[in-house]
Amino acid sequence: MAGIKLSVSGLDKNFGSLQVLEKITVDIQDGEFISIVGPSGCGKTTFLRIVAGLEESNGGTVMLDGKEVTEPGNDRGFVFQNDNLLPWRTVISNALIGPELAGEAQQAARARTLELLKLVGLGGFENYFPRQLSGGMRQRVNLARALAIDPKILLMDEPFAALDSQTREIMQTELTRIWEEGRKTVLFVTHQIDEAVFLSDHVLIFARRPGRLRESVKIDLPRPRALSIKRTPEFVAYVDHIWSQIEEDVRHSVLHEGG
Ligand SMILES: Nc1ncnc2c1ncn2[C@@H]1O[C@H](COP(=O)(O)OP(=O)(O)O)[C@@H](O)[C@H]1O
Ligand SMILES: [Mg+2]
Repeated sequence: MAGIKLSVSGLDKNFGSLQVLEKITVDIQDGEFISIVGPSGCGKTTFLRIVAGLEESNGGTVMLDGKEVTEPGNDRGFVFQNDNLLPWRTVISNALIGPELAGEAQQAARARTLELLKLVGLGGFENYFPRQLSGGMRQRVNLARALAIDPKILLMDEPFAALDSQTREIMQTELTRIWEEGRKTVLFVTHQIDEAVFLSDHVLIFARRPGRLRESVKIDLPRPRALSIKRTPEFVAYVDHIWSQIEEDVRHSVLHEGG
């Protein structure tokens, strides 16, 4: 068991008669960056929500550090596609929401969170309001907020999906840099395969409904990684392989379910 951070075993989920996840079993090592890819509607968000404790499963277990997950908790940090920053709060006070809710002493939390804002590239923007920030900067605040509670695992659901492609690539490199510094365990959902390969140690390919784990692909690319790695034959081969695994599923969901 040593080294396993998150252990998911035989996880089932249905919404009424709709079976969404079927017998998902996966172990994630401490400090690994794991991405989940798969066609729209295959249960990626549902999976993440169950790990977060926001959704109940219908069978199987989720263990974090050997303890069963049954409800939300400060040992898991969340970043969603759409930032949910409070518009009336400044950057720093948005980032401090987690520690505040946890009842942590203000001074300590503030000092640490200022460091985190620097880490995510927002040094000097502490007193800005969300409306004064670009989309990329708002997602950086979200990331700092998730890190501010010092979670055991970071859960990210298509966090860059709303960003333009250049900002998105910058955020990918920034995220690898931040991850290299702290080596948190990360579970990252994306539908962009090159993003998954670029960021990850393993890419989990989910098959369409009911969502099953089709394959776990180990990404043996050296770190640290720069964007230029996306042009190497090794990188392209990973993307091609993963794409071939989900192509049929994606085609089916586009043709039959409107994407
Ligand atoms: N709260 C819910 N009630 C009923 N059906 C849901 C609910 N949440 C998700 N679903 C359905 O479960 C399936 C998987 O959804 P989701 O996990 O969001 O997929 P993904 O994130 O991979 O696109 C979809 O068919 C979706 O409509
Ligand atoms: Mg989703």
